[in-house]
Amino acid sequence: MANCQERLEKSLSHWLPAAGTHPATLHESMRYAVLDGGKRIRPTLVYASGQAVGSAPELLDGPACAIEFMHAYSLVHDDLPAMDDDDLRRGKPSCHRAYGEATAILAGDALQSLAFYVLAHDNTPIRDQTRRRMIEALALAAGSRGMAGGQMIDLTAAGQELDIAELEYMHIHKTGALIRCSVVIGALTNPDLEPDTLDSLDHYAKCIGLAFQIRDDILDEEGETGTLGKRSGSDRSLSKSTYPAVIGLDAAKQRADELHEEAMASLSGLGAEADPLRWISHYIIERDR
Ligand code: IPE
Ligand code: IPE
Ligand code: MG
Ligand code: MG
Ligand code: MG
Repeated sequence: MANCQERLEKSLSHWLPAAGTHPATLHESMRYAVLDGGKRIRPTLVYASGQAVGSAPELLDGPACAIEFMHAYSLVHDDLPAMDDDDLRRGKPSCHRAYGEATAILAGDALQSLAFYVLAHDNTPIRDQTRRRMIEALALAAGSRGMAGGQMIDLTAAGQELDIAELEYMHIHKTGALIRCSVVIGALTNPDLEPDTLDSLDHYAKCIGLAFQIRDDILDEEGETGTLGKRSGSDRSLSKSTYPAVIGLDAAKQRADELHEEAMASLSGLGAEADPLRWISHYIIERDR
């Protein structure tokens, strides 16, 4: 996995236009939002899922970058004053704090476009048919029936008491969709994959996607700003609907544990090649940032 992280950082920097490229402020802000920070969980999942299905890392660099660009865009927009109004991200001023709101909006827009550009043009030996399925999966995951839809619910639900079913729906969409997509596009790099294996990986991904946002909600309650690299207590101050707010901290932790167990069970048909996926699931519910 350390090897994959190194590959990823190089590829991200390669695909991002150089900071001096005209219009320089926009390109600088895009690099600022993507590079030097972040846990890189989603691209790591792309590599781990690819490894689980026997794909070479060279096939995974493009999809891993595409997912991280999409994620970085979502963070830039999530922090805007019209959304969560957060001034700290990845241990530094959020993009709009550093570059102004208008530039941050455009940086987000351009990162989203770059994600699709990389998937469409990455000249690895991925078959065109596979490439099309990846583009389709990412478009669905990021759109109104995925992440953007979940973010819409997050905003309209602030100050309201969601029930557990509505809360789960919101989390599965705003965060789960892109995490699920990371695992799926990693697996799609093996065009001969058995449908049953893809289903198992997809189920694993659904479980960890929800667990990821539950842990994020827990950390917003009890994490440290310095460790998180973003302000803890942000959800409470905006009266957001979160797992700790709706079912309490202990029940939220228990739910994350259950989802981890369910994720592990869905990998039971896979051998040691899926160990990185197992490790990531464990990391997601234990992490402190
Ligand atoms: C934060 O995601 C946004 C959510 C979907 C909860 P991460 O916790 O993966 O953020 P980075 O990439 O490590 O900064
Ligand atoms: C964000 O959820 C989900 C996204 C799609 C970006 P949060 O608003 O809880 O993410 P953080 O806590 O700001 O990273
Ligand atoms: Mg938010
Ligand atoms: Mg936020
Ligand atoms: Mg949060």
